[in-house]
Amino acid sequence: MRKLLKSKMSLFRFGQPFNTGATVKICNVEKSERFPFKNLSQKENTTSFSFPLNDGDIVLGLGEMLGSLNRRGKKYRCYATDDCLHTPEKESLYASHPFIVLLGKKSFGLFIDFPGEIVFDLGFSDHATAQVKISSLHCDIYFLQGNNLKDIIQQYLQLVGTPWAPPLWAFGYQQSRWSYPTADKIREVADCFAKHDLPIDAISMDIDYMDNFKVFTICEKNFPRLPDFIEEMKLRGIKLIPILDPGVKVEKNYPQYEDGIAKDIFCKDETGHPFKAAIWPGLSHFPDFLNPQAREWWAHNTAALVKLGIRGFWTDMNEPAIFFSEKSMQDALATLNSFQEKYSNGVPYSLWEYFNARGAISSATNQAEDFKSFYHETTQGKINHHEIHNLYGTAMVEATARGFQKVDSTLRHYILSRNSYVGLHRTAAIWTGDNASWWEHLEQNLQMLLSLNLCGFFFAGADVGGFNGNVSAELLIRWMQMGVVSPLFRNHTVLGSRNQEPWEFGDKTLKILRTILKLRYALIPYLYSEYMQARTSSIPFLRPLLFDYTDKISKTVEDQILVGGSLMMAPIIKANATGRFVHLPKHRWLQWSEKKTKIFAPGSHYIPAKLDEMLLFIKENSFIALTKPAKNLENYKPKSISVIGFVTGNATFYLYEDDGVSNSLAHSIITIKVRKKKITVRIDQNNHEFSSAIKKIDLRIYGLDGKFTRETVNMPTNID
Ligand code: GLC
Repeated sequence: MRKLLKSKMSLFRFGQPFNTGATVKICNVEKSERFPFKNLSQKENTTSFSFPLNDGDIVLGLGEMLGSLNRRGKKYRCYATDDCLHTPEKESLYASHPFIVLLGKKSFGLFIDFPGEIVFDLGFSDHATAQVKISSLHCDIYFLQGNNLKDIIQQYLQLVGTPWAPPLWAFGYQQSRWSYPTADKIREVADCFAKHDLPIDAISMDIDYMDNFKVFTICEKNFPRLPDFIEEMKLRGIKLIPILDPGVKVEKNYPQYEDGIAKDIFCKDETGHPFKAAIWPGLSHFPDFLNPQAREWWAHNTAALVKLGIRGFWTDMNEPAIFFSEKSMQDALATLNSFQEKYSNGVPYSLWEYFNARGAISSATNQAEDFKSFYHETTQGKINHHEIHNLYGTAMVEATARGFQKVDSTLRHYILSRNSYVGLHRTAAIWTGDNASWWEHLEQNLQMLLSLNLCGFFFAGADVGGFNGNVSAELLIRWMQMGVVSPLFRNHTVLGSRNQEPWEFGDKTLKILRTILKLRYALIPYLYSEYMQARTSSIPFLRPLLFDYTDKISKTVEDQILVGGSLMMAPIIKANATGRFVHLPKHRWLQWSEKKTKIFAPGSHYIPAKLDEMLLFIKENSFIALTKPAKNLENYKPKSISVIGFVTGNATFYLYEDDGVSNSLAHSIITIKVRKKKITVRIDQNNHEFSSAIKKIDLRIYGLDGKFTRETVNMPTNID
């Protein structure tokens, strides 16, 4: 049942917008006279408006975009683009999350539900003005009024729905590279994890597992007897995560091609022929994921892999990326030929012709003209791709998810997607594409995680260590440290780069990385519990300081992360740093590591952090929960939990627990309360489908003097 939403949210509808599926609540449509922004114009297929940016106004949002968390001063383009060079001036990346929040005298949220191109000029052309240009006369614009960021984000999350519930193992560490070329190589990697006592839950299979990159095929030579291999890895507690790219190679006798043609599931060009463009396997057709039949076809193929034991997929190139079309390549070659002709025949040419020839091949990639040249058959009618461009990957993920449901709809699935639109946050994880092994991208990872969380994408992450280029041991260590709190914790790197597995940098680095990974696994009870509760409370799991604190400094801090309700991380993001300034707002904080603890008064502090140290803080009057680190999270049922608190007054902590796999989300909550120094622990089961495995809770509670008291509580118990 779609419920009518009671809130300070207004919907302005222009024309007859395409239903993107981004929202889950019905909202009354307001009269256009009440549209809150100036200069509303609808002409030449463009809807545009502007609003003032006052001194001190902060603009947040847009999820996966390059640049600072405060988006002010830059131009952004919501039009999914496969761009593997993430330099600061770029206006778009792989995803489109057209939601912003303005924090100022009058704060508001703005969600533009439109799946084509939208440009947000947030004080770039004119520092005091924000301009929004939507490339259509048909769109839904939601205006969310609120007193503060929390209020606005909660309305937004109620509008677009609860973030994805991943299987518990997705919180484990994943190792990846383009590519582990054979099953034996993957075995070797798994062996190294075991040999070096490093926990791991999944290893990716990049494009080389396929027969010449053809989707839904297996390279039998390098991956013989895949089902046995999947089973073998499963017994070791490791999931294999194959990549799926949308392009289906045009090749006679390739079953998916023949079948796709027979079932007529590919996107078509103007002439009604399947649209053709080159991607990894060569010239390919593109499944029309907006067409229910095509989705069903894809789901059927995905299900075949799920039946072999595959528990997760990695959906890539789904913007979709186009290396070149026949047309764009012909144009490029014509430019090259004309230059060659002039050059070889001694005809004078301008240097512009040389530059054109130089860029010709690369400019054949992702051409706007190509995106405008094919169509989708949707339940809402035939539509040009360009108009719904930003929905392609989300529809691919839905089809992939359907593949899992076909096999067992009671289980949670795992899908990691590159492209996304708002709405996909309910179904899958995303990663932020081809970053580089640069310190700047470690910082960018931090800012993007925060802005993605504000847009509902709680389960996200970047390629830890960086994708392009070669990582140094120091950068990898600092990146892995930040990985401890990143829901997706996956180390991935490009073809030909230096090896990036934890043991590749010598013993000293290995030892540090082992401690980092063990800390991640130790913290699973806290991370999982806080994540699952963040979903239902509509409060982002990862937050910038200004979400929780209103002081002046908190408003400007973009390099600290609030993780759940109790923990804060101040990652080291600069080369050669041996410490950093940390802003500790409002209350006291307990700097916590397994080796040392220290209480800090509120304020700004320079805090040392050697290479093997990370800066984590427990907020005054709150708790975190840990357990003995597991080797992996398959069948993870800790019997004893350590709860660490910093309590000077009253404090409450809710530890969420479920079976980590089923969709029912039956769970139990253990409540730990301290009132007047008296500790009480009680357990609530929301129904009888899940009973907690926890038998013992070890409490360690720090007081103002920095000393702790210990208490052990045996479960199940109901003290109150
Ligand atoms: C794309 C992906 C990257 C992957 C590569 C090969 O560049 O973003 O993660 O490794 O394709 O499949």
